[in-house]
Amino acid sequence: MADTVVTLRNITKRFPGITANDRINFELKRGEIHTLLGENGAGKTTLMNILDGIYHPDDGEIYINGKKTVIRNPADAIKNGIGMIHQHFMLIDTLTVLENVILGLRQQGFYINRKVVSENIREISDRYNLGIDPFIRIWQLSVGEQQKVEIIKTLFRGAQILILDEPTAVLTPQEVEISFEIYRQMVREGKSIIFISHKLNEVMDISDRITVLRKGKVIGTVEKNEISKEGLATMMVGREVLFRLERKPLNRSKKMLQVENVKAMDDKGLMALNGINFDVYGGEIFGLAGVAGNGQKILSQVITGLRRVVSGNIIIDGKDMTNASAKKIFEQGISYVPPDRLKVGLIPNLSTIDNAILRRYNKSPISNNSFINYTEAEKYTDRLIRDYDIKVPKKEAPVKLLSGGNMQKLLLAREISENPKLLIVVHPTRGLDVGATEFIRRELLKARDNGIAVLLISEDLDEIFMISDRIGVIYEGQVLDIVDIEKAEINKIGLLMAGMKSLKEEV
Ligand SMILES: Nc1ncnc2c1ncn2[C@@H]1O[C@H](COP(=O)(O)OP(=O)(O)OP(=O)(O)O)[C@@H](O)[C@H]1O
Ligand SMILES: [Mg+2]
Repeated sequence: MADTVVTLRNITKRFPGITANDRINFELKRGEIHTLLGENGAGKTTLMNILDGIYHPDDGEIYINGKKTVIRNPADAIKNGIGMIHQHFMLIDTLTVLENVILGLRQQGFYINRKVVSENIREISDRYNLGIDPFIRIWQLSVGEQQKVEIIKTLFRGAQILILDEPTAVLTPQEVEISFEIYRQMVREGKSIIFISHKLNEVMDISDRITVLRKGKVIGTVEKNEISKEGLATMMVGREVLFRLERKPLNRSKKMLQVENVKAMDDKGLMALNGINFDVYGGEIFGLAGVAGNGQKILSQVITGLRRVVSGNIIIDGKDMTNASAKKIFEQGISYVPPDRLKVGLIPNLSTIDNAILRRYNKSPISNNSFINYTEAEKYTDRLIRDYDIKVPKKEAPVKLLSGGNMQKLLLAREISENPKLLIVVHPTRGLDVGATEFIRRELLKARDNGIAVLLISEDLDEIFMISDRIGVIYEGQVLDIVDIEKAEINKIGLLMAGMKSLKEEV
């Protein structure tokens, strides 16, 4: 059994209202990439938090390298060679890479020599081709680079068993390929990886074995070579999943959003939008494709009043809303699903009910002038939960206790249900399981059919092609060619995203 590095036996974990892990048996072999797959709320993160010492099982045993082990806290996990990259990062923005790596070590009784540590970081960075400078501050890094810092942090602490909780959800397709190379190199060196992802193509690409969870229980463990994508989806959801959507004919109404020659700066004071132009009409989905970091986030912020433009105009439903306050803009009838659900979209420490009514707490029937009618608030929350199949064990508990995908579903449910004029969604299905992804795409199409103008900002070209009516490409703060879906070709859009100037130049 020297080959098995982790054995989980009959692990059970209960939270108020739910058994998140129900007698789970799981085994990780040395040098393997073992994927945990399951619907939103199936219990993946909980199980990994137990292995990382953040939670304690109510029942069951953990064996590390064949030896029964009690993991009391993350420091214990590190001592046992276990390191976890979390679904939501845990780095401190204002500190450097070096300081983040050192953080917490001192309390654990390590003697710190900054010079030695920084050399060590450089060495790890070079060995895996990560390109991370120990002295750069976290806020100066892209999300993909921040994830590399998390990897450095765990490797620095000597991790032999790496737990990666949806690492690819925040990566660009190119970054995913690079990180897969890194994972492969790690397992070649004898490390072992537990990988979590909802993207079946990735799972089929990187895994040696796959264990499927459903509602806290193990459905089965399979060899990658013995299963198909469809087979995995069926195991996970318990029914067949159709990867197909029907679309009604386009019925465009008037211009709901005009973005005219907009320039804006990012946090570093660099020009991130260099004269952006496009319109979105009622009744259409405008898909804005692009590799992260080309101005998408800044664009969504200037439209929603969360950032000022340097020049240019933003016109919503015929009214000039350039540099108006967020409050004024939202009153115009805008809904917004931001890229960062825990920083902008939801208030982590408030309950599911409070988050659900965030857009309505001052409107009848939830409010009568000064008081919130909690019966109505709860009724409304129940409706969102039911319609969007959100798994909420306890509505009064802080929303941060929901699983990652269920937070995203709540946010989407709240914003789409406002029945806005203009709906802006930034990678809406990030972190959603296959069933929920299909459901949300249907809801976006329904919104379009109801006359809503939908601006879909996403890096997922499959998603953009599946539901958009027109596609634009954002590159270095400009919108390159805009094409109707009938004329759009996926490989050409891909080239544009990579910076090939214009389709017209080519012909
Ligand atoms: N600390 C906690 N307190 C209460 N309930 C919790 C806590 N952590 C998780 N849960 C609940 O346990 C269930 C499983 O959550 P978990 O985060 O493990 O799901 P997941 O499989 O990782 O889902 P996702 O794919 O959406 O990330 C969910 O219903 C969640 O709300
Ligand atoms: Mg999770």
